[in-house]
Amino acid sequence: MHNTMRKIGIIGSGVVAKALAKGFLSCGDTVMMGSRDPKKLDAWLKENPERAKTGTFDEAARFGDILVLAVSGKVVLDALSLVEEKAIENKTIIDATNPISGDPPEDGVLRFFTGPNESLLERIQEKYPRGNFVKAFNSVGNAFMVNPPFKPQATMFICGNNEGAKKEVTKICIDFGWELMDMGTAKSARAIEPLCMLWCIPGIREMETKTQKSLLEEIRETESAIQDLKQKLLTLKANVAVNPQLVSDYTFTDGQNQKIRLSELFGDKNELLVVHNMGKSCPYCTLWADEINGIIHHIENRTPFVLISPDEPEIMKEFSASRNWKFKILSAKGNSFKKDIGFEDKGKATPGVSCFIKDAEGKIYHRDNAVFGPGDNFCSLWYYFSLLPGGAGNWHPKYSY
Ligand SMILES: NC(=O)c1ccc[n+]([C@@H]2O[C@H](COP(=O)([O-])OP(=O)(O)OC[C@H]3O[C@@H](n4cnc5c(N)ncnc54)[C@H](OP(=O)(O)O)[C@@H]3O)[C@@H](O)[C@H]2O)c1
Repeated sequence: MHNTMRKIGIIGSGVVAKALAKGFLSCGDTVMMGSRDPKKLDAWLKENPERAKTGTFDEAARFGDILVLAVSGKVVLDALSLVEEKAIENKTIIDATNPISGDPPEDGVLRFFTGPNESLLERIQEKYPRGNFVKAFNSVGNAFMVNPPFKPQATMFICGNNEGAKKEVTKICIDFGWELMDMGTAKSARAIEPLCMLWCIPGIREMETKTQKSLLEEIRETESAIQDLKQKLLTLKANVAVNPQLVSDYTFTDGQNQKIRLSELFGDKNELLVVHNMGKSCPYCTLWADEINGIIHHIENRTPFVLISPDEPEIMKEFSASRNWKFKILSAKGNSFKKDIGFEDKGKATPGVSCFIKDAEGKIYHRDNAVFGPGDNFCSLWYYFSLLPGGAGNWHPKYSY
């Protein structure tokens, strides 16, 4: 407490405004906190029934003998434009603001909208030459602005063009528990404002690490949840056929122009996997078929398998040989198999896989199917690429590399 009660007007209502207001109130001063919407400060007013007032920016400026500027750096001039110029004339104005731009920090380093050979304080002082602005409190977190716990005693760097105003701010800083260093004119804010970058680096880096850690945890949790759901789905699909549809015993053509019926493809089994391929013209279907080629011995150990192409048998045979495909491949040219099963759109084959089953009487049913596309369960490449920075990016399969 001091003998003379000061009247403080604060242009700003955020954490800095509140931290400094607390300091002034504890010194016995009267404080009016300003906001474009003073109503939102009702709770603060209730917490500080003695010597606290609220008002607009202009009312706060007119009220205070000493002012504090504590708004976001980007809007300082907007905030001051709401104050009648007379209200700041010849007054000491503590400028706690920093020229922080809206861009994200880089490796913990905040970005400023000012360059190295200028400062926000100079911009403000130039626009309002009759106000006595003093840079202070900008380079320390709001929790440490009053009674900082540092040992040895910490130093507050201040600067400004008016000696009387700096003396006033020096006294306030000492009241608030700081040692003082007057760094000179407003130009020194070019060095004092970036101290805020330095102060913030450890905190921002810690926050970034925490964010990365929680993102990593979220990825692991999502992967594990997907894995559990996949297991559940596999069990459900294996035990319940969705809606088996009776189908005809279609006739296909092999590479030797021999006719083969769908029923013959079951061999001595009552189940069959059929891949619906789009033919030679599709590099994606070719990739899916290449992958099948690598595991066909495993598939055939469990179930009969055939890949159905829409191409002419001759073209199909040549293309299949060029890729060294070992699985059974048949042409559906001339039949309505793809259309009837649902793997044709506007006359063009579409990709996927179906399961057919045969009952004791030899009737054939379409039991289940899935559509093929990047990221599906039938081509692993997109999962490999998902581990790379940027995932698969713009990658597209080709016939050869
Ligand atoms: N946070 C810290 O620990 C810390 C430490 C040192 C220095 N600083 C600096 O101190 C200043 C205040 O920081 P803060 O975190 O307390 O608050 P802030 O969130 O940066 O700013 C809040 C204030 O800005 C005003 N405002 C926002 N948009 C406005 C606009 N378009 N026109 C006019 N006024 C507008 C708000 O007015 P209303 O009340 O009308 O909403 C409010 O009073 C900043 O420049 C900051 O860089 C912050």
